[in-house]
This record gives sequence, structure tokens and C-alpha cells, in this order.
Amino acid sequence: MKISIIGGTGGMGEGFALRWVVNHDITIGSRDAQKAASSAEQYMNTALASYGNNIKGTIRGADYISSSRDSDILILSIPYDSVKLTCESISGSIKKDCIIVSPIVPMERNDAGFTYIPFEKNMKSAAQLLAENLPDKNIVSAFHTISEVKLKNVNESLDSDTFVCGDDQQSITKLNQLIEEIKGLRPLYLGPLSLSYQAELLTPMLLNASKKNKIKHPGIKLT
Ligand SMILES: NC(=O)c1ccc[n+]([C@@H]2O[C@H](COP(=O)([O-])OP(=O)(O)OC[C@H]3O[C@@H](n4cnc5c(N)ncnc54)[C@H](OP(=O)(O)O)[C@@H]3O)[C@@H](O)[C@H]2O)c1
Repeated sequence: MKISIIGGTGGMGEGFALRWVVNHDITIGSRDAQKAASSAEQYMNTALASYGNNIKGTIRGADYISSSRDSDILILSIPYDSVKLTCESISGSIKKDCIIVSPIVPMERNDAGFTYIPFEKNMKSAAQLLAENLPDKNIVSAFHTISEVKLKNVNESLDSDTFVCGDDQQSITKLNQLIEEIKGLRPLYLGPLSLSYQAELLTPMLLNASKKNKIKHPGIKLT
């Protein structure tokens, strides 16, 4: 599968690339093609050092528009407040059957702790905002409660669940296969994209509990 990661120069993007390069060709998307190329080279070196020659895929870098062309899976690993502008720039280059994946968490910090922006400011969930800005596209949301630190450490089993929301069962099935390629990660279907807020708001909750109880990089697992 061809996987592109828009915002792939960030911490989550690095983790996704390092986990999936074992089996897939990855494109790191950045607003700056030079920065994308340099991150891609660095990630490939890390992957080779970690896996040796047991890698079937490659990692390359490109600007946002080129990286969204031809991809089967497009991960939008970008901040919430950049969704509208990013969608405007890439919507014309996404192919019809591409699956768009949102790990985006609309979150900020105030004196009380981390809060979920859509509740505080009466705004849309990240998934709803994407659906509004990319009409007629297959959008699935997942990975909200996965720590980038654990994702980047390819030797570590995540030993976690991730909630998956979406409206198209075929897209969910394909994404679930990719999720299961990440060691120790189990996809759990939560419901349609309209319920994505329930997964997104777990992240500020986890971070508050983690800070106040001194637990590093917490995750979620249903028992
Ligand atoms: N970090 C975590 O542990 C974690 C966990 C779960 C979910 N998430 C969510 O996953 C997403 C990615 O997280 P992250 O920590 O990797 O994000 P990040 O480092 O803040 O940003 C990722 C990339 O997005 C691009 N970007 C930044 N500002 C932008 C703008 N205004 N317009 C367009 N692109 C912009 C940058 O790439 P270029 O400068 O190269 O274009 C940046 O490297 C976020 O939505 C976050 O809420 C994060």
C-alpha cells in the first residue's frame, strides 16, 4: 500500500513511518519539500538501523500536494487549527478511493489542565471538521490515545487499544489491517465518524491523569 503522511515531519508522523515502512512505501509530506526529504532520509536510516534488511518499503519526502497524489492511505498528522487550509490545498489531488485517516486531537491547556477545544469553544470535532472540508471522501479516525514516544520506539509493543470511527466499513477494515501491523496495537470500532469526539476527548483526559499521577505516556486498553 502507498501511505502518505501529511505533517509527517512531526513526532507522530515519524512513528507511523517507522512502524509501516516494514511493509509499505511511505511518503512524508511537509509544507517544505526539502524538510520532508531530510526527515525521510533520517527515518529511513533509523529504520535500517532497527530492522536491518527486513524492510520491504521505502520512505521519501514531498510537498503536501505531491504527497497526497496516488496515495491509498493519507494520514493527516497535522494540528487541528491547520485542518481547513491543509484540506483546501490537497483536496484536488486526493484520489477517489483514498482512505483519509485522522489522529487529530483538538486540545489546549489552561490553568485547570488539558481541555477538549470543541466542548470549550463550541467547535467541531477534528473528524467533523475534516468531513466538512473534504466532502465525499472516505474519512476514518484513530490513534488519538497513542503516545508518539511509544510509537517511535519500534522495539516496544504498544500493548494498547485504539478506537476507530468511520462511516465506510471497507475503509475501516483496511485501516484495521494497518493498525494490526503495529506491534501490540488492537483496533476497536467505536462507531460512525460522528462519534469520533468520544475518542478525541480521551487524550486530554489521559494527559491530565498522567500529569497528576506521574504516569509516563499512558495508553488505553479495554479489559
Ligand atoms: N504527539 C502525540 O503524542 C499525539 C498523540 C495522539 C494524537 N496526536 C495528534 O496527531 C497530530 C500530529 O501530532 P504531532 O505531535 O506529530 O504534531 P506536530 O508535531 O505539532 O505537527 C505535525 C506537523 O504538522 C505540520 N504543521 C504544523 N503547523 C501546521 C500548519 N499551520 N499548517 C499545516 N501544517 C502544519 C508540520 O509539518 P511541516 O512544518 O513539515 O509542514 C509539523 O511537523 C496532531 O493533530 C495531534 O493532536 C498527537
